[in-house]
Amino acid sequence: MASPLLTAEEQRVFDDRLAEILSHYPSDRKSAAMLPALHLLQSMKGWLPPDGMEMVAHKLEVSPERAYEVATFYVMFHIRKPGKYVVDVCTNLSCSLWGAEDLLAYLEQKLGVTAGESNGTWTLREAECLASCGTAPCLQVNEVHHENLRSRAAVDAVFARLKPAS
Ligand code: FES
Repeated sequence: MASPLLTAEEQRVFDDRLAEILSHYPSDRKSAAMLPALHLLQSMKGWLPPDGMEMVAHKLEVSPERAYEVATFYVMFHIRKPGKYVVDVCTNLSCSLWGAEDLLAYLEQKLGVTAGESNGTWTLREAECLASCGTAPCLQVNEVHHENLRSRAAVDAVFARLKPAS
């Protein structure tokens, strides 16, 4: 059945894909499929709206709070609608030694958004180590990795290719 969250066609696709996911789990352990189910919804909607988390919880026969708990534990899930580009700037030790705080401040000014916030185009976040310590400082844009960002020109080159949300 369709909901305001998804069109009838989207709901059919979601239900079919969820059924395939659930086929890998014991029928009395549907809740174990929470991560792939939330990932599926996010892949379709771009984020996890509250009514979407409720739908997933209902289908996995758990409370809505359980879906919310899982969604808020993992940074890859968005419980608020993100910008077109999600920018994760590593501010852990190696990147910090190579000026990650200055990089973050530069991006706040360049993108017009405070770290931890979103606008229509950008979501800017601090991130824990992105496993690129030897090529610090680094960041990811929509999970695409960029490293050796030791000059403004290198940073500007990354963002020059990205078009604002229309
Ligand atoms: S500290 Fe930044 S990638 Fe490891």
